Amino acid sequence: MSLLIIGGTGTLGRQLVLQALTKGYPVRCMVRNFRKANFLKEWGVELVYGDLTRPETIPPCLKGITAVIDASTSRANELDSLKKVDWDGKLCLIESAKAANVKRFIFFSTQNVEQFENIPLMKLKYGIETKLKKSGIPYTIFRLTGFYQGLIEQYAIPILENLPVWVTNENTNIAYMDTQDIARFCLRSLQIPQTTNETFFLSGVKGWASSEIISLCEQLAGQKAKVQKVPLFALKLVSGFFGFFEWGQNISDRLAFVEILNTENNFSKSTFELYKMFKIDSSEIIQLDDYFLEYFIRLLKRLRDINFEDVQKQKNLII
Ligand SMILES: NC(=O)c1ccc[n+]([C@@H]2O[C@H](COP(=O)([O-])OP(=O)(O)OC[C@H]3O[C@@H](n4cnc5c(N)ncnc54)[C@H](OP(=O)(O)O)[C@@H]3O)[C@@H](O)[C@H]2O)c1
Repeated sequence: MSLLIIGGTGTLGRQLVLQALTKGYPVRCMVRNFRKANFLKEWGVELVYGDLTRPETIPPCLKGITAVIDASTSRANELDSLKKVDWDGKLCLIESAKAANVKRFIFFSTQNVEQFENIPLMKLKYGIETKLKKSGIPYTIFRLTGFYQGLIEQYAIPILENLPVWVTNENTNIAYMDTQDIARFCLRSLQIPQTTNETFFLSGVKGWASSEIISLCEQLAGQKAKVQKVPLFALKLVSGFFGFFEWGQNISDRLAFVEILNTENNFSKSTFELYKMFKIDSSEIIQLDDYFLEYFIRLLKRLRDINFEDVQKQKNLII
């Protein structure tokens, strides 16, 4: 089974690529910048030029492909690209996949999209889910929770740099996940026929309130966080709040994400049933505290190495 992964340079995409290669799948990635994607080539991926905003580049990427895994989304710093990538580009991708007789199309959406049509990205995600279901291509949709990776920027770095940590006054629990685990579910779905034409709500096994994440980071960093609380209702009043939404890019967007993920379907019985179906033991899932511990250990080691290099340089100058 040959895979086309779109978004291979992204946070989730690179985990998908790594695990797909480890499992022995031939992997092609559609990329728009060969230099940036060079690390994927070094891993053993076939790189093909393609840009979702340039429809003519899409069909050639699909030649000889059995399954498409689409982990792409518009970059928040490319302000005018939201509709071009997450709507026009995806429609063209689905059409081209249909024409290429692709046997499976995996799409990543987010939890509760249907309830947040006032947020442009959510509206587009929901629209693409619908289009994909109607396309006739065998599909699997994963509605995802937040990624651990995004929490580093939101909590760990501000605490380490003594900057404010912004939270809402809602103490909601969110069952975030590591992208490595999301990638495992995704690749497992290719081996389980019952996952065809299904939508899965994928969550971690433990819900975390922002206060708990802050305490954890405070312990690991050995310093107190400067917490700034913003009531959700106040955020909603801010004009333009729902104008553009991208994960983890600015404070109001991150906080909006908390609201989107704030539902009972996180961390529930259905999550455990889902794990059972995918034959993934919940005890194998990377825990948030372990993830943060590893991050802080790596960071401290890097700081020690930098410090050691500086001392060596100074010694060399003296000699
Ligand atoms: N992050 C979250 O917490 C979260 C939560 C729920 C769902 N999701 C969904 O999960 C998926 C993966 O998210 P992520 O955070 O891993 O994404 P990401 O890190 O922002 O990566 C986005 C990827 O899309 C590619 N891309 C952007 N514009 C493109 C274009 N015009 N043509 C081709 N490729 C393009 C980027 O390539 P370049 O490197 O060239 O820019 C990059 O590889 C997305 O569908 C996202 O909506 C994410």
